[in-house]
Amino acid sequence: MIYLDNAATTLVKPDLVKERLIEKFDKIGNPSRGSNEISLDTGRMVLATRIKLARLFNIKDPRRLAFCSNATEALNIAISSFIGRDDHVITSLIEHNSVLRPLYLKEKEGAELSFVGLKDEKEGVLNYEMMEGLVRENTKALVISHASNVTGNITDLSKVSDFCKKHELLLIVDAAQSAGLIDIDVEKYGIDVLCFTGHKGLYGLTGTGGIYIRDGLNPHALKVGGSGINSFDKDHPLTMPEVLEAGTINAYGILSLNASLDFINQIGLANIRKKEKDLLIYFEDRIKQIPTLTIYGAKDLDERVGILAINSTKIPSKDLAQILAEKYDIATRAGAHCAPLCHKALRTEEDGLVRFSLSYFTKKEEIDKTIRALKEILGDDYDSNNI
Ligand SMILES: Cc1ncc(COP(=O)(O)O)c(C=O)c1O
Repeated sequence: MIYLDNAATTLVKPDLVKERLIEKFDKIGNPSRGSNEISLDTGRMVLATRIKLARLFNIKDPRRLAFCSNATEALNIAISSFIGRDDHVITSLIEHNSVLRPLYLKEKEGAELSFVGLKDEKEGVLNYEMMEGLVRENTKALVISHASNVTGNITDLSKVSDFCKKHELLLIVDAAQSAGLIDIDVEKYGIDVLCFTGHKGLYGLTGTGGIYIRDGLNPHALKVGGSGINSFDKDHPLTMPEVLEAGTINAYGILSLNASLDFINQIGLANIRKKEKDLLIYFEDRIKQIPTLTIYGAKDLDERVGILAINSTKIPSKDLAQILAEKYDIATRAGAHCAPLCHKALRTEEDGLVRFSLSYFTKKEEIDKTIRALKEILGDDYDSNNI
């Protein structure tokens, strides 16, 4: 199979991840839950992983980073902790439902939302100029995706950071599509809360992710329970990271991240990004001449992660993805991609988009086969009824 659905989850993980999981398969204990050697060793591995992630994001104190089960959990923690019913929040039309739905819950309680729109219907780049006009007296935060899962467009962190500093707003960033691919420096950009997932560009197992919360901000726990410390207290500890890590931690998942971070550090973020971007340029250059095809997302590929979103006037998106899957064994994602406002703004809510998403492990030969398949399907003499 040619797997081009890496924005959903990366299928191929570095060999190192598999090797370390096998090596440690029967050596994982329950960290902070005892002083046997296995428990202590697992605790050291969890701490080492926290430190590696902190280095990746330039987080000064690794204890400000808590592990979560995914970006969705992290975003729920961020929004439920730091947005109150009297607050106004600025967000954008590119957001994933894991930002929008927690915000809509807050809206039901009384919070107000405003959306940064897009500059146009095809490139889908955020209209940063709109931001100033959205600020109100009670604006508390900007919640923004670092990279769109629909178009792949990368948000300009310098711009949003300057804006938040100027208006003293909390900057909450959804890095689900960018962590492991783009340099994210929480200090440089004054990011107050960073939410990320571990199973996409970080090449860890599903069920991993995390949240960074800067010193001075105190999150509410979504769940309470065993913490390994202060067992006689009725209340769950309020200190980071314990406040957000109730219950037995996903140690196998964290071990996978521990190994994948070694891989990422060996290759280097810039090289991972370059490889993905070069392949994206190669892919896009060779299909953009197909007359019935529309490509969405920023034209400047420096502003896009490895996502190519298209649709065609010849075949509905769902059918195109189905033909790619059934006839060519190419896995993509079609339809709506959990970002309803983005589809509305791009006017693709009816037909959706076919999303091809690359990873460091995508091969040029796979892209060549995909280009040939698209030319065949969308070319003049292809009969889609005759699969
Ligand atoms: C932009 C964006 N944000 C958040 C998420 C949620 O990530 P997870 O499903 O790992 O919680 C996704 C997942 O596709 C995403 O693309």
